[in-house]
Amino acid sequence: MDTPFEILGLDPDADEDDLVAAYRERIKAAHPDHGGSAEEFRRVRTAYEAIKEGYTAEDHATDLQRAAEESGAGEEREGATETERTDSAAAAAGRPEGVRVEYLSYAALDDFGWTIHDDDLFEKAAEEDLRAEDYGEIFVSPRDTLLEAAQEHGLGWPYACRGGACANCAVAVVDGDLEMPANHVLSSEMMDNGIRLSCIGTPVTDDMKVVFDIKHLPGLEELRLPPQQARRMSSD
Ligand code: FES
Repeated sequence: MDTPFEILGLDPDADEDDLVAAYRERIKAAHPDHGGSAEEFRRVRTAYEAIKEGYTAEDHATDLQRAAEESGAGEEREGATETERTDSAAAAAGRPEGVRVEYLSYAALDDFGWTIHDDDLFEKAAEEDLRAEDYGEIFVSPRDTLLEAAQEHGLGWPYACRGGACANCAVAVVDGDLEMPANHVLSSEMMDNGIRLSCIGTPVTDDMKVVFDIKHLPGLEELRLPPQQARRMSSD
């Protein structure tokens, strides 16, 4: 909140003549007939009256100090809220920080004759003794994309450009949702079917289930960068 001196654009050490001059100038500009508003007009007049009635440079300094402290405390509260939101959700669930993502490789579907549309796909996967690179769970922090989280967990999911310009990193979202800042590659039909790009996608639901390395799903092979180019980009 501005102090009366700030509202009038006046130096706190100004004398009475300066006060009157500043008031005249400001009140004219604040008048509704000169492009101001009734609210601004009232604000300038109240500021002027406050100084006339004894609001001092010392009061001004105290108010500025208080405003700075309140704003600092507000920022701290906001920061804490952000952290607390993630931490408390994780703590409440008794699990690591972040969104829980259950993953399954498309290769495992092939091996067991499952399809992406099987209602109990992940239940069936949980009952098999699958390798960690094919099935498991990771936790994605709000700062990471799904691909980054997979890599942090040591998983070798495919990718190439890392910028949303190919489909090498595509995953099929079976449960939950993965939000992408933009999409210039996937068709609306693919989007409707839950296909997303893991290199730019961040989970927006508390839990997710995804199938990765889905290059054999219709239409995706054509959107992928060829192996040589993909290798070059992923090693850059
Ligand atoms: S790696 Fe190219 S879009 Fe994700």
